[in-house]
Amino acid sequence: MAEQFVGLRSFSPRAEIRTIKPCPKLAGEVVLPGDKSISHRAVILNSLGKGKAEIDNFAPGRDCLATVRCLRALGVKIDRKGSRDSPTLLVSGTGEDGLKEANNVLDAQDSATTMRLLGGLLSSQPFISVITGDVSLRNRPMGRLIEPLRLMGAEVWGRGRDSFAPLVIKGKKLRGIDFTLPVPSAQIKSAILLAGLFARGNTVLHQAIPSRDHTERMLKRMGASLESQGNLISLLPLSSPLIPVNLRIPGDSSSAAYFLVAGAIHPNARIVIRDCGINPTRTGIIDILLAMGARLKIDNKRLEGGEPLADIVVESSELKGIEVGGDIIPRLIDEIPVLAVAGCVAKGKTVIRDAGELRVKESDRIATVVSEFSRLGAKIEPLPDGMVIYGGRPLSGTEVDSHFDHRLAMSLAVVGLIAKGETTINHAQVAQVSYPAFWQTLQQVLNADKS
Ligand code: S3P
Repeated sequence: MAEQFVGLRSFSPRAEIRTIKPCPKLAGEVVLPGDKSISHRAVILNSLGKGKAEIDNFAPGRDCLATVRCLRALGVKIDRKGSRDSPTLLVSGTGEDGLKEANNVLDAQDSATTMRLLGGLLSSQPFISVITGDVSLRNRPMGRLIEPLRLMGAEVWGRGRDSFAPLVIKGKKLRGIDFTLPVPSAQIKSAILLAGLFARGNTVLHQAIPSRDHTERMLKRMGASLESQGNLISLLPLSSPLIPVNLRIPGDSSSAAYFLVAGAIHPNARIVIRDCGINPTRTGIIDILLAMGARLKIDNKRLEGGEPLADIVVESSELKGIEVGGDIIPRLIDEIPVLAVAGCVAKGKTVIRDAGELRVKESDRIATVVSEFSRLGAKIEPLPDGMVIYGGRPLSGTEVDSHFDHRLAMSLAVVGLIAKGETTINHAQVAQVSYPAFWQTLQQVLNADKS
């Protein structure tokens, strides 16, 4: 596994090391980065709109910047202003037929959302595209993208008999499909919807379990003829260009999860998280922490730009183990590494099932969580589709590795807050993928009572 990531070229080969020590108190306010999933959609869909749009609080991580670079390479003018951690993008949408063939290979870096969403879109554009990514992304499944696109008539090929990137796409006019999503994947759903915008005929999608619905919400807001009811989505091809929308991206609930768990497991904590997205397709972690006994309060609920958000207060809690599985899994899939931290501290056993998708994320998150948490003294066993965590065992700091997985790096930092001694995290720079300011924000929460 480690060998596989040695060639990861979008990070400096120098291993950035972060050391975390337990602290007497966690307090203060957390300002989150803009939501990664919503940011990808906001910049892609506004690129297709006819006219200018301003996107505030755009996600500052590397994944969304990869999407911006790809869109620029496809001829979209995107200017960036504001601060590094909360940039504003000015997107000059090219309209429905304004994208141009890129004069080089597109690089999605570590971002599967970039590759899959653009893969869908580019299949319907009248030119050739080649899209690749880092070593990690080139080992993630792309057959699940290629298969439905081919049913729409797309000419898309991938390495390893159409299983992996790089992808080669000969764009053309597609036809709409009636398709049942075999995995509850918002990336595949969104790729098909993006292709369907330019297809001949309607696209109808059936989801066995709903996944995040940011694409549907934004398409409706931008004037597309899309209806979603229960597990069914129906989209008509565009009859007029998408209407550009100015929006402010809500804080990323997946980034909030590190502080929600940190506050709940630390014996002396009170953390306030501002402007956090609470789209119900993303809030499984809040539901599970509440069910585990977390002292969480959700205040100031509101709707901004079609997405719900709120402020969340978390305080030291006595957690108990829980069984997690079934329909809730897509609502917390990215939060499972940090949920495992809560499981290590909770009283009793936590069992996570139906989460086989973890095996095909930035790392095999079942294997990497089990190996790195075990080093810290956790009793945790892998299952084919999840893990069993025996909570309440003493944890001791030691040297661990992120496996170049941003969510693992940040989850290990949360363990470090309560483990005895020092926890040293290798390749910690990978947090830049979704949360470049994570280490500074963590430091602020650690130092809150000193200032
Ligand atoms: C995402 C969907 C999820 C999630 C990923 C972001 C998105 O992936 O894990 O971090 O923005 O659509 P899948 O669609 O593969 O489940």
